[in-house]
Amino acid sequence: MFKTIALSAALALGLGATGAHAAGAEGHVEDFDFSFEGPFGTYDQNQLQRGLKIYTQVCAGCHGLKFVPIRSLSAESGPGLPEDQVRAYAEQNFEVFDEELDDFRPARPTDNFPANNGVGAPDLSLMAKARAGFHGPYGTGINQFMKGIGGPEYIASLLTGYTGEDREQAGTILYENTAFPGGWISMAPPLYGEDVEFDDGHENDLESEAKDVAAFLMWTAEPKMMARKQAGFVGVLFLTVLSVLLYLTNKRIWAPIKRKGH
Ligand code: HEC
Repeated sequence: MFKTIALSAALALGLGATGAHAAGAEGHVEDFDFSFEGPFGTYDQNQLQRGLKIYTQVCAGCHGLKFVPIRSLSAESGPGLPEDQVRAYAEQNFEVFDEELDDFRPARPTDNFPANNGVGAPDLSLMAKARAGFHGPYGTGINQFMKGIGGPEYIASLLTGYTGEDREQAGTILYENTAFPGGWISMAPPLYGEDVEFDDGHENDLESEAKDVAAFLMWTAEPKMMARKQAGFVGVLFLTVLSVLLYLTNKRIWAPIKRKGH
């Protein structure tokens, strides 16, 4: 019995060690700061709007967001665009195939963002969650709670991680990237800085564009993050109050017996 436990413990440790080793070879992820980190972090509405603009003008050419309803752009906890702007945005930027019309028509707020399978680029709706794990699973979990899941850090690192080197492999051009696992990605650098102009004149250097679009993609992957954090906080508060009540009750119940002992 003890032997089996010792063996599985050793195995678990061994696996953990090789896992950690593999993680080390996975490319470098920069610890960018985001407004939504930490137990009380929230999305920055202006940043989400900038990220939306970058996605629309740059990334949407290759990547879809097929799980994201366009109308959610008006969510108060999201980009918070007025509804008429959302309607205009949908119409101006996207066409969707309408089964009833048997034809394409301009998108409406009730549609999702279109998929895009043109060049084999992955859908970005859930990418920020799919690429989580920069602080874990080998981290403590506390780190994830305090700093977030790591997906947006990965995306921002990917967008800023090009070295400028490329090479051809079996007819495909691969670009060297310090964040991408394996070091070579088939996506050409999509951002160089000053790719998008913002109406309020906000910075548009490479790093801030990368962070803005990464924040936007965190929102598409987890639009209810703020509500979840709030619920979590209420849960912790509730458990704390409950613990205090239980402690006091316990003391009271045992008080007569304890007194006798003395
Ligand atoms: C010209 C087409 C093109 C554009 C524009 C483009 N991408 Fe990509 N992207 C790709 C392709 C192709 C892949 C798959 C690369 C691979 O697996 O080697 C990819 C992969 C990705 C990945 C996944 C990397 C991974 O870990 O698997 C992310 C994240 C990403 N792109 C983000 C973006 C963002 C954000 C933008 C806009 C700023 C953007 N892309 C613009 C073509 C594009």
